[in-house]
Amino acid sequence: MANFSERVFSGVQPTGNLHLGNYLGAILKFVELQETHDCIYCVVDLHAVTLPQKPEELKASIREVTAAFLACGIDANKHIIFNQSQVAEHAELAWVFNCIARIGWLNRMTQFKEKAGKDRENASVGLYAYPCLMAADILAYRATHVPVGEDQKQHLELTRDVAQKFNLDYAASIAALGFGEAFFPLPQPLIQGPATRVMSLRDGSKKMSKSDVSDYSRINLTDSADVIAQKIRKAKTDPAPLPSEIEGLKQRPEAENLVSIFAALNGQTKQDVLKDFGGGNFSTFKTALAELAVEKLSPIGAEMARFKADPAFIDGILVDGAARARALASKTMTCVKDILGFVR
Ligand code: TRP
Repeated sequence: MANFSERVFSGVQPTGNLHLGNYLGAILKFVELQETHDCIYCVVDLHAVTLPQKPEELKASIREVTAAFLACGIDANKHIIFNQSQVAEHAELAWVFNCIARIGWLNRMTQFKEKAGKDRENASVGLYAYPCLMAADILAYRATHVPVGEDQKQHLELTRDVAQKFNLDYAASIAALGFGEAFFPLPQPLIQGPATRVMSLRDGSKKMSKSDVSDYSRINLTDSADVIAQKIRKAKTDPAPLPSEIEGLKQRPEAENLVSIFAALNGQTKQDVLKDFGGGNFSTFKTALAELAVEKLSPIGAEMARFKADPAFIDGILVDGAARARALASKTMTCVKDILGFVR
């Protein structure tokens, strides 16, 4: 078996404002992984246009996600931050994967079904082929680990299926070219932590989402300290006091969500949080949570505002990151062309 050294890749779509769910579910993990891995973090603008986008808003969102990466503490010198559309190899490798993946595989993707809705005939071909582009993002760097939210697990499975079928279909060519038994690694999702799924502050059964009509349902990374505190004060709860054991959070989705958020922001387990707050009422807990959230999030919002005021700086980070990403992806693409038998 080929020996793949560990490399992390992940992507965030530039569509609308980033919120606490993006932060706790993904970006916090991106920051941590910098200590142990070479990391590549991508603003996936090619994915964004699988649904209609307004050009000016898209541009602003690409810069906003980049600013969030930097403000949250991703080091663009030691690691790579870039936007997908600047590295043509993503689209090029995605085409190859369109020819590896089977229609039957894509038909099973639940995210496509959700996003396409009832009028599936009218969905873009890009929305349908989205998972092949995602596989190309990851495998263009032969990445081995992919920090993502729970909802992306199925796409990671498809990425492994694509990698495996490529390795099998072209096994002879891969061996003849000296790549050993496998050219692509089978990348693993990294899904951990107490708040990988942050729920709406208004309804503990729904995911926190940028598309929720109520702004009180989410905490945006750009919210001011006052707004953060107010949204937590107004968050939905139930009348009972907080339980002392985790089992007591069952059937209490709003309580569970707030405890998870506290734990994730404070680097604790839910049990730790209940040790401190179990038996107490929500108003005491909410005051502590508001304080903690303001302490952790308002510096990020302030940094983002500072970066957003300087788009030329952000664009420079992206151009530099794209050059470094391209250097890696073009090597992979050259090998893929040789494996397939293309003349170059
Ligand atoms: N599909 C991911 C999402 O919606 C975004 C994404 C695109 C991604 N390419 C990726 C995530 C590659 C991880 C790796 O969240």
